[in-house]
Amino acid sequence: MKKEIPVAGQEVPLVIVGAGFGGLAMAIRLQKAGRRDFLILEKASGFGGTWHDNTYPGCACDIPSHLYSLSFEQQPRWSRHYATQPEILSYLDTVASRHTLHEKTRFNTEVRSLSWDARRKRWRIETGQGEPLIAQVVVLAVGGLHIPSVPAIDGLDRFPGPWFHSARWRHDVDLTGKRVAVIGSGASAVQIVPAIAEQVGRLALFQRTPAWVLPRKDTPIPALLQQAFAAVPGLQRLWRWVIYLRQESIAIAYTQNPKLLGHWQKQTMQLIQEAIADHDLRDKLWPRYPLGCKRALLSDDYYPALARENVELVTEPIREIDERTIVTADGTSHEVDVIVLATGFRTFNPATEIEINGRGGCSLAEDWVDGPEAYNGVLVAGYPNLFMLMGPNSGLGHNSIVFMIEAQVRYILSCLGLLASGRLPQLEVRDDIQRLFNQQIQERFQDTVWVSDGSPWRKPCMSWYKTASGRLTALWPGFSASYWWRLRRADFRDFLTAEQIAAEAAPRL
Ligand SMILES: Cc1cc2nc3c(=O)[nH]c(=O)nc-3n(C[C@H](O)[C@H](O)[C@H](O)COP(=O)(O)OP(=O)(O)OC[C@H]3O[C@@H](n4cnc5c(N)ncnc54)[C@H](O)[C@@H]3O)c2cc1C
Ligand SMILES: NC(=O)c1ccc[n+]([C@@H]2O[C@H](COP(=O)([O-])OP(=O)(O)OC[C@H]3O[C@@H](n4cnc5c(N)ncnc54)[C@H](OP(=O)(O)O)[C@@H]3O)[C@@H](O)[C@H]2O)c1
Repeated sequence: MKKEIPVAGQEVPLVIVGAGFGGLAMAIRLQKAGRRDFLILEKASGFGGTWHDNTYPGCACDIPSHLYSLSFEQQPRWSRHYATQPEILSYLDTVASRHTLHEKTRFNTEVRSLSWDARRKRWRIETGQGEPLIAQVVVLAVGGLHIPSVPAIDGLDRFPGPWFHSARWRHDVDLTGKRVAVIGSGASAVQIVPAIAEQVGRLALFQRTPAWVLPRKDTPIPALLQQAFAAVPGLQRLWRWVIYLRQESIAIAYTQNPKLLGHWQKQTMQLIQEAIADHDLRDKLWPRYPLGCKRALLSDDYYPALARENVELVTEPIREIDERTIVTADGTSHEVDVIVLATGFRTFNPATEIEINGRGGCSLAEDWVDGPEAYNGVLVAGYPNLFMLMGPNSGLGHNSIVFMIEAQVRYILSCLGLLASGRLPQLEVRDDIQRLFNQQIQERFQDTVWVSDGSPWRKPCMSWYKTASGRLTALWPGFSASYWWRLRRADFRDFLTAEQIAAEAAPRL
């Protein structure tokens, strides 16, 4: 079995970096297209990516599992509409085994640098292990939400108790009866807080910005329905379409007609009013930015958890951590035993983690110093034969990321078809095409919920969707279906011609 993995120093036609949803989708699609000449490099010890890293209590998806799964690997027996992390991880492991991907994956292998050898038209891949590998094509499937963001809070490093990030949950730390601080009130916190509130002694939730929280209405899927999904041809596919269209309709409000958001805002209001009697607490939980500007969250038990006797919502900014005490700007001290950082991730930018040098020695870190920019979220001018999954401007706030990944995988296969045709010696997107694309998508963000129009209601909000300067680099500005349509096949005219490559005359950004 092991023979399939080339030894270090050998040449591999295609290397996939990362073994989450993206890496697995790419590998399976390659195999279905008859290619087994690839290798997956994964720095973790197993498959799953997000679902391998995030094991915090309450961790689950927020897009129904029948949609948040691979279209070509349907699982009829999801136990709930929103599966929990162990079930999703087990699904991904099963899928990887079914396609014998263990034998094509090198775990515990971190890619440190990629450099393009223009003479050989190959990538040189340095990993944390041994000699470099050489590959004609590299697909970066390194994920957009992967590197924990640890806030620079004065005194955090001197805190004597355990502190850890939500994506690095310390299962060896028993929270029973402890005074626990959760910092952050985003998607992870909204799942963690209800899951631990009953177990802990006291819980202080440090909220900087309240989230829009909508009803989740999650239920187990009855065994009979699971059987029907397995037995009735087309039923599960039909159900998947129903969910897809429901999710997709949210983009109408986000991108075309924000007035439609009123309906969901009322739902948040109702959830708060039903769970919380205290008017001051209600007021602190009410978001003052457009719904959708940050990811809207789903939960039925978050507000009830905040109403508990042993839970306190702290909205004063954190000033410092002094020994076991979190001190807020107003001078109040909160004694805690354990700190959980539910503070999110450093958003997609592989250039900050992997040193990537392209044609003519250009550096992706330098090219992306003002924020990441790509063509179709997949290709970057100056970096031949390099493809990205979940690259810049291909995330979604309203629908399944797996849908976007599959669109990208199909596009990459189409690009590889162009390469195999021999019409081009290498595939490098044209600089002008990339620039025009980015100009157009930034224009499409105007009049969406992610951009302020200056009115008191439409206050700007910051989120991981944006760079520090406020440029939207994480999201696709419209329907996922329009992305799918755009990426249905690669266009020969988008790439540098053989003559331009030979002359190395193509202008760079
Ligand atoms: C807690 C949580 C819940 C989420 N829920 C949803 C949801 O319900 N619906 C939805 O649409 N999206 C959700 N997301 C977004 C989620 O990240 C994507 O849906 C999807 O899992 C991304 O898959 P990926 O393969 O692109 O990236 P990842 O799952 O992040 O996988 C990337 C892989 O690359 C590896 N890697 C990174 N760098 C290197 C390197 N240098 N060398 C080697 N390997 C490397 C990582 O170890 C990882 O295994 C969620 C995210 C989080 C954090
Ligand atoms: N399936 C799911 O339900 C699920 C679960 C978890 C994650 N996810 C995905 O992962 C993404 C990230 O989720 P996340 O919750 O981990 O991160 P997040 O949404 O970015 O939330 C981070 C939270 O931490 C706060 N924060 C950050 N730095 C802080 C600081 N220095 N002091 C105080 N508070 C600070 C943020 O406040 P501000 O808002 O003020 O910045 C925010 O409330 C989500 O958007 C979603 O796509 C999905």
